[in-house]
Formats: sequence, structure tokens, C-alpha cells
Amino acid sequence: MPRTAIAAIGTFVPERVVTNADLTRLMETSDEWITQRTGIQERRWVEPGVGAADLAEAATRQALDRAGWRPGDIEAIVFASLSPDHMFPGDGCFLNARLGLPGVPALDVRNQCSGFLYGLSVADAWIRTGTYRRVLLVGAEVHSTGLDVSTRGRDVAVIFGDGAGAALLEATDDPDRGVLAVRLHADGRHARDLWTDAPGSVYSPRSRVEDIASGATYPHMEGQKVFKHAIVRMPEVVREVLAAAGHGTADLKLLVPHQANLRIAEAVQRSLELRDDQVFNNIQRYGNTTAASIPLCLAEGAEARGLRRGDLVALAAFGAGFTWAGALLRW
Ligand code: UT7
Repeated sequence: MPRTAIAAIGTFVPERVVTNADLTRLMETSDEWITQRTGIQERRWVEPGVGAADLAEAATRQALDRAGWRPGDIEAIVFASLSPDHMFPGDGCFLNARLGLPGVPALDVRNQCSGFLYGLSVADAWIRTGTYRRVLLVGAEVHSTGLDVSTRGRDVAVIFGDGAGAALLEATDDPDRGVLAVRLHADGRHARDLWTDAPGSVYSPRSRVEDIASGATYPHMEGQKVFKHAIVRMPEVVREVLAAAGHGTADLKLLVPHQANLRIAEAVQRSLELRDDQVFNNIQRYGNTTAASIPLCLAEGAEARGLRRGDLVALAAFGAGFTWAGALLRW
């Protein structure tokens, strides 16, 4: 049975840098608070009119260049995003059109911060079963247009940023390369602990003036609850994928945790007793880009740490749903 290898990763972030100091002009906050509580120094925001499909296309084209593939080499698209351009159809179809791939299937994944790893599990199953040999897996988010940037929404607004990461996945028969294990989890009892209530199909009409006034159209988060679950679930799922493949934490060359908060990533590192050189973070420059955070961080981490063929890499995510997931692969 073939395994799933990453042929290349492409990334894209909008040009506009929004610093913590910039946010102090919109809401009551401070560089000191944001840096101490989250580690974030700046994030990227799109200009008006730019959606997640735009970011995804740019990241995909970079990945195609890096892999030496043409768009026509892509046999299936998996698009993870909580911030698609429109209510429906999902951005997978918009990306399919932009890449000029009529007939190529496009699957949309709605698993927030875990979206990239949920998408990876599907793409991996397709590749291992021989359904498709070359799959585009993209995570892309535009948060900035949906944030409450007044003081009311500051706990959420300072965290999130826009960006995209695209991985080209291919079947390999190389025994020293590819995805070894993926594990997915969810606990819907916490669905309302991090969510955007409206617009939604339970409301008639779906878009109501009172929801705009009350702030129900903005994301809401029980921050401390999310934090406490994240620092338990992420180490747990890393141990789970390591155990599934018969490895221990000492074997890891690199852990790329979902970039939710630098303090969460540091707690995960401590819990797994990993050295600094075994973990890579870049939330300082991008904030939390949900489904885009793992490919964005993996691409930079692979370069910064000089990942080599065969190196053992773990990926871990936790977020809204609650959902969480882990993956283990040989680079
Ligand atoms: O990707 C997965 C999704 N998200 C996460 O994983 C995020 C998980 N949670 C967190 O990262 C943290 O809970 C936050 C960074 C969101 C908040 O940090 P915290 O240490 O849990 O702060 P808190 O919510 O307990 O708030 C502490 C204080 C409050 O003031 P009082 O009540 O103590 O007077 C907040 O009103 O900080 C205040 N506060 C702020 N102050 C300045 C909240 N947001 C801000 C802000 N600037 N942006």
C-alpha cells in the first residue's frame, strides 16, 4: 500500500502587517498584554475584497512551482477553512475554477483549527487506497473581515490573522517517507465554547439586524476553557500518533503545534518534555490562522530547521468544536 508524502508546501500571507500597536488604535489593549498572554507581535490582514480562495490560490501556485507540478497534475482538492468566501459553495469549488480543473473533485472541510489535519486524514486515506495519487490539501483563512475590533471583542480579535498554506500530497512507495499515523477527535459538548452563532440556518431569516447589534455575528470564545483543554489534548494526541507508529518523543525531529497561543505551544512542549530544537513556532508573526497555521508553520519550520528526508515530524491541532487531531510523518 502506498504512503502519503508531502511533495511541496506553498504559503501565502497578505502584505498588510498589523502590529499590536496598530490594534491599540482600534480597541483598549496593549502590546504588553498581547505579547505576554499570546506571544503574538503582528499578524497579516487582507485588503477589502480579498477572500480565503485568493490566499489559497497564491499558496497553491507557490507549492506547484516548488514541486514542479502543473495544476493538471492535481487529481483532487481538499480545502479546509472556517472562513470561506461565501456561505456556499465551499472554497474548494472556487479554487478548482481558478486552477482550471473542471471535473476534479473538491472537498470542503469545516473543522476550524483541526481542519488541515482532518483534511490530511481524508487525503491520506484516498492515497493509501489508490483512489487518487496526487492531492492538493489547502488551509486558508480570512479572519480579519469577521472580527469585532472594538474593545468588546478584544480577547478574540488580537489573536487571529489571515493566511494560507497548501500542501501537495503524493503517493510514495518509499518505506522511509510519508504519513505514518493520523488521529482525529471531537467533543461537541464544547461546540458553543468557541463559535460564531449567526448567521445560521436555525434563524429565520438567517441574517438578522439584531444579531449584528448583539455581536452574535462575531466569534466568541471561552478563552480559558479552550486553553485548558488545548494543553491536555494536544500532548495526548501527539503521544497517540507516536504510539501508533511505535515511536517515542525522543525520536521526534520536529513538532509543529497548531499556532493558537505561544503559551499553549510552550505548555505542550513542556508536557511532552521536548527540547526547544524539537518544536517550531511562528505565531509571533502571523497570529492564529486556524486551518492555515499548520502548513504555514511546517513550511517555515522545515526550512529553518533544515528538515531532511526521513526526519520524524509530528503535527498537532486543537480548536473549535472542540476538535483536535495529530499526525506523524517521515519528511
Ligand atoms: O485556535 C484555538 C482557539 N483559540 C485558542 O486556543 C485560544 C485559547 N485561549 C487563550 O489563548 C487565552 O485564553 C486568551 C489569550 C484568549 C486570553 O488570555 P487569558 O490569560 O485567558 O485572559 P482572560 O480571558 O482571563 O482575561 C484576563 C483579563 C480580563 O480582564 P479582567 O476581567 O481581569 O479585568 C480581560 O478583559 O484580560 C482582559 N483582556 C484584555 N486586555 C487587554 C482580554 N483581552 C484583552 C486584550 N487586551 N486583547
